[in-house]
Amino acid sequence: MQSIMRINCKPFTCLVVIAVFASSPEPSQGTVVEPVRARHAMVVSVHELASQAGLEVLRAGGNAIDAAVATGFALAVVHPQAGNLGGGGFMLIRLADGTAHFLDYREKAPAAAHAKMYLDRRGQVIENKSLVGYKAVAVPGSVAGMAYARKKWGKLPLARVMAPAIKLAKEGFALSQMDCEALHDEELARFPESRRIFQRDGKFYEPGETLRQPELARTMERIAANSDDFYHGSLARELAAAIKKGGGLVTAADLAHYKVKEREPLKGSYRDYQVLTAPLPSSGGIVLLEALNILEGYYVAGMGNRTPQFIHMAAESFRRAFYDRAEFLGDPDFTKIPTEGLVSKQYAGAWRQTSMDAEQATPSASLKRPPNFGVTRQRSAVNLRQEPTDTTHYSIVDEAGNVAAVTTTLNDNFGSRVTADGLGFLLNDEMDDFTLKAGVPNMYGLVQGAANAIGPGKRPLSAMTPTILLKDGKPFLVLGSPGGPRIISTVANIIMGVVDFRLNIQEAVNAPRFHHQWMPDKIYVEKDFSPETVAQLKKRGHTVEEDGQWSDGECIAIDLKTGDRLGASDIRNNGKAVGY
Ligand code: DON
Repeated sequence: MQSIMRINCKPFTCLVVIAVFASSPEPSQGTVVEPVRARHAMVVSVHELASQAGLEVLRAGGNAIDAAVATGFALAVVHPQAGNLGGGGFMLIRLADGTAHFLDYREKAPAAAHAKMYLDRRGQVIENKSLVGYKAVAVPGSVAGMAYARKKWGKLPLARVMAPAIKLAKEGFALSQMDCEALHDEELARFPESRRIFQRDGKFYEPGETLRQPELARTMERIAANSDDFYHGSLARELAAAIKKGGGLVTAADLAHYKVKEREPLKGSYRDYQVLTAPLPSSGGIVLLEALNILEGYYVAGMGNRTPQFIHMAAESFRRAFYDRAEFLGDPDFTKIPTEGLVSKQYAGAWRQTSMDAEQATPSASLKRPPNFGVTRQRSAVNLRQEPTDTTHYSIVDEAGNVAAVTTTLNDNFGSRVTADGLGFLLNDEMDDFTLKAGVPNMYGLVQGAANAIGPGKRPLSAMTPTILLKDGKPFLVLGSPGGPRIISTVANIIMGVVDFRLNIQEAVNAPRFHHQWMPDKIYVEKDFSPETVAQLKKRGHTVEEDGQWSDGECIAIDLKTGDRLGASDIRNNGKAVGY
């Protein structure tokens, strides 16, 4: 009991204490931790130096969008696993004037891509071809996206916003233990330029040593001088030449045709909160809203935080939402998708009435959709695929109340592992997010359908879920995470932690996670759940797999009474919330 007693017990926290006792929680739920509190502005990311880059730009008179661009470029330097110039991402923006915007700078398939490009002559998926090496690379969107965001919504010149990142690349930064471990990646060693830059040709970096990236600094200086050069100028030609030499498909014409897309943010609600989240080509928002809509019909708070009953009901909701993801979702510019039906409250109600069982797991193989919601079966062909392991999310709130939630990725850790010759940055392996072959279940993970088949110029379906919750029209939570499909359940877990269980944002981010994605038919739980909880879930008919820890919530809450910005960097990683 000592560990959760507080001296200044605010009503908000007292509620947490009550909830904690009422529900006989998991042991790790007992510690009250506080987010970082700042009066005016907050930047939270997976790396302190990237958060500081954002803060520097805010202090220099930039707004949340300038800071998002500064943090994004800095992550490309200090977190090369996922921060990037050679990848893509989504930026969800809520401006102080009340307007909301969603920027899609997802990678797209090159013109020469085709549905069977990763299959051998017998029609089998060629191992690793879509994951490692030049053939895995899709047309990168990050530089275009960040430049577009700054130009449209930012206040400072691009060169000013990129200055912290350029300095970090030029002067270097001290590597942490975690950084050094990550740089031991075996696949990186297969590509001489990557091996030279990130592994010092086999003389691996030790913690505390400085990583300098002069080629990256030079590339960033060129972008700062003229970001268009990356798509239409000498940078584009050099990049295309490097990819061609390596046997990849992305050409100068693909780069020239790349377009950032502004899309309508997906809008919904959960209890008393409005939800702004990611639309297609991310599945994140649809799956998140569908699962939350189902759960909204139950008194979740009364079930108790992380109790078997709660985990069961949430997992059953995830199961149904992911089932729909597998069947229907893909690039909306190429396929008609029944988004409206999927995120309607009526559809969620029908799931509750016709399908949800409060006591027993519904086997995924026997799941049946409620009829009559415009959500009809397409094709049964789906594809279970291995899940890559890195992406990164960061959240920003500025003094004026502008908000940016950004998730960006190379897909896998260090993407395709290819560093563009002479340019110093890694290239994505986002092609692997497409359905490689319909109907072939793979060992691990995610189910994909025909709507997400590879096609020239298509954007692969994503799970990235930058999300903003509003209360009475005012920003309340800024959320997101890496984790592939687990991004969505991570964001849902954090939302339920705050909304249903009255956890503060740091507690909600730290709380042990669980996940279900329809197939494989199991609940994944983090290592902190007790054997008794696991046994109770098994009694309900679930297969349960403990799977270490995952995801990385880098989130902000806004104290609705005082306006204070409350930053929460995930306890699982080395990130940092910084504010003023
Ligand atoms: O866009 C997507 O959904 C994936 N490329 C994200 C991969 C990811 O989050 C891996 N991180 N742990």
